[in-house]
Amino acid sequence: MDRRIPVCLLAVAVIALPFSTALAQQTAEPAVLTIQVDHPVAKVSPTLYGLMTEEINHSYDGGLYAEMVQNRTFRSDWSGIRDWYLVERGQAAAKIDIDTTTGPSTALPHSLRLDVTAASAASAAGVLNTGYWGMALHPDTAYQGSFYAKEDTPQTGPVTVSLVANQSGKTLASATVSGIGAAWQQYHFTLKTGAIEPSAANHLELTVAHPGTLWLNLVSLFPPTFHNRPNGDRIDLMEKLAAMHPAFLRFPGGNYLEGDAIRTRFDWKKTIGPLVDRPGHPSPWDYFSTDGMGLLEFLEWCEDLHMQPVLAVYAGYSLNGEHVNPGPDLDPYVQSALEEIEYVTGGADTEWGAKRAADGHPQPFDLQYVEIGNEDNFDQSGSYDGRYAQFYHAIKTKYPNLQLIATAPVKSVQPDVIDEHYYVRATEFFHDADHYDKADRSGPKIFVGEWATREGTPTPNFGAALGDAAWMTGLERNSDIVIMASYAPLFVNVNPLAMQWTPDLIGYDALHSYGSPGYYAQVMFASHLGQERPAATLEGASARFFYSVTEDRTAKRIYLKLVNASSDPQALDIDFSGARLAAQGQVTTLAAPDTQATNTIEHPDAIVPVESTLAVRGAHLHYDVPGYSIQVLQLQWR
Ligand code: AHR
Repeated sequence: MDRRIPVCLLAVAVIALPFSTALAQQTAEPAVLTIQVDHPVAKVSPTLYGLMTEEINHSYDGGLYAEMVQNRTFRSDWSGIRDWYLVERGQAAAKIDIDTTTGPSTALPHSLRLDVTAASAASAAGVLNTGYWGMALHPDTAYQGSFYAKEDTPQTGPVTVSLVANQSGKTLASATVSGIGAAWQQYHFTLKTGAIEPSAANHLELTVAHPGTLWLNLVSLFPPTFHNRPNGDRIDLMEKLAAMHPAFLRFPGGNYLEGDAIRTRFDWKKTIGPLVDRPGHPSPWDYFSTDGMGLLEFLEWCEDLHMQPVLAVYAGYSLNGEHVNPGPDLDPYVQSALEEIEYVTGGADTEWGAKRAADGHPQPFDLQYVEIGNEDNFDQSGSYDGRYAQFYHAIKTKYPNLQLIATAPVKSVQPDVIDEHYYVRATEFFHDADHYDKADRSGPKIFVGEWATREGTPTPNFGAALGDAAWMTGLERNSDIVIMASYAPLFVNVNPLAMQWTPDLIGYDALHSYGSPGYYAQVMFASHLGQERPAATLEGASARFFYSVTEDRTAKRIYLKLVNASSDPQALDIDFSGARLAAQGQVTTLAAPDTQATNTIEHPDAIVPVESTLAVRGAHLHYDVPGYSIQVLQLQWR
C-alpha cells in the first residue's frame, strides 16, 4: 500500500546518505534483525488503522462540526443565556429573556425573546454571540448563516447580521434580513469578509433599529466546509484526518453512546432530519450536544474520508449503572438498533432507508461491523451476556453478514470480534508491546477500539509517541488477529474550558489546529503498511527497541518500522534474505531530544516527520537508529 504522507506534513531533509553512520561509534554491539522477505507468515488487516471519536473535549461542537455559533438554540442556566449577550448601542434600550411559550418546532419549543423599547439606525439593539471561544474569520471568505425568527410587528426588523472584530469594534462583514413575519420561519444570509487578517477574536451580532419584540432560535453560521457539505466539517481537521489514512470510523462513542443515564444516551432518531427537529442532549462529558453531528453526518464523514462505518448501537447500559434487563424490557432497544442498521444500509424502499433518502442520502451505506454497547465490563449487574446475546440473535437473523463486536467477554454466544481498551503510560506499552504475540488465534478477532499512552497535555508529548509507536509495532505484528485499532480520544479544543480528558491526538482552537507527535507517529505507521508480515527475528537489541515489518508483494516493497525509545542509538545489522534490494530506500523520521518535547497550538511543527534517503548495498544493511526516534524505512526489492 503506497499511501505516502502528504508533503504538507513533512519536513524534507535533502541530505542523509548513508544514514547516521556518525552515531555508530557510540553504540554497543549491533543487534541483528533478520527479515525473510520471501517468507510471509501472516496477513495484515487492511482495516488495522482507523478513528474513534465522540463528543468529548468539544470534538464536534467547537471542533470538527464547523458551526461557529455556540449555544445556537439559546439554552440558559443560572448564569444566564450562555454565550449570548445583550447589545444596546447609543440610546437603545432592550432586554432579553428565554420565552418558554414559543419556539420554531416541537424539538425546540423555547426561544430567545428580544424586547426593544428604544432603537434607531444609529442606536441598534440586539444580541451578540461569542462563538466557540472566538469566531475564526479569513479574508475574502463567504460565511453561510441562518436563523429562525418571528416578530410582533413588521416594523421591528429588518435584522442586521454582522461579524464584528472584538478589539476594534469594526464590522468585518454584514447582511440585512428583511421581511420577518409573525410566524416562525427560517431566514438565510451570507456574510462575506474582505481583506482582513485571519483572526478568531470576533463575534456575531444580530440587531434591529426599531422598537418591538423579536423571537429567535437556531442561529447558525458556517464557514466553507470540507467538500462544501452544508452542515459540514472543518476543512483543516478533515485534512489532518485524511493524512492518517483511516480505514474505519467507530462512532458515536464511547461513553457518549451510553450517556450518563438511559434517557441521555445517544438516541439516534433524535439526531437525524432537519436541525430544527433535533433537540440535542447532554453529553456525559458535562456539556450539551447540539446533535448537529448526527447519524447521517457521521456516515457522510465516513464517505468523505473513504472509511468503513463501525456503528456502535446503544445496548441497554448507561454510565450511572442503569441497565435494561435482557428479555422483553430490552426488545425496544434491539428494535431501535435494527431500525438504525436499516437507516444506514436499507434501500429507499425500506421504511428507514426511505427516511435516509428523505434526509438527502438515497444511496445506502456499506456496513460490515456493528458494536453492541461500550465498555460493558463496567456493568456490575452481569446483564451484558444476556443483552449481547439478544442483540446478536436479532441482528444476525436479519443481517447474517454483519460482524458483531462485543465490548466485554461473553459466554452465551461467541462474538465475532471483541473490543479491548488500553489507557496506559509509555513504560506499560514498552512492557506490553508483545501483548498479542501469544493470543489465542481460534477465538474472536480483536478490535483495540480505544488506546493511548497517557502522557502530555493537552496533547501527547514525544515520550507518549514512543509508547504509542512501540504499541503499534505489536498491533501490526499481530494484525492477523487484531483487525482494527483506534486511538482515543482523537480531538481536543485546547481552550481550558473545553477539555475534559487529556491527552488527545489532535489539538485546535477556533482558528488553528495541530498534530501531536503521537499523531505523526500514526500518520507514519498507517501510511506505510503492507498486506503481509514476513518472518523476522531480532536478537541483541535494547529492551526499549521495537520493530515491525510488513511488505507489499505486488509492489515489491518492504516497510520497516523502527522505534528506539532509549536515549542511546541502537546499532542494527539487518539481513534481508530471499530478495535483492534496490540501491536506495526512503526513511521517514520522527525524533526529539527529550521525551517531554512536544507540539503546541503556538508551536505546531516542533516535531514533524522528516524525509531522507538511505543507501542499500545488496541484502545486508548496517544501520544506526538514533536515540528517541521513530522511523519508517521503505525499501524496494527487484
Ligand atoms: O476515550 C474516553 C473514554 O474512555 C471513552 O468515552 C470510554 O469508552 C473510555 O472509558
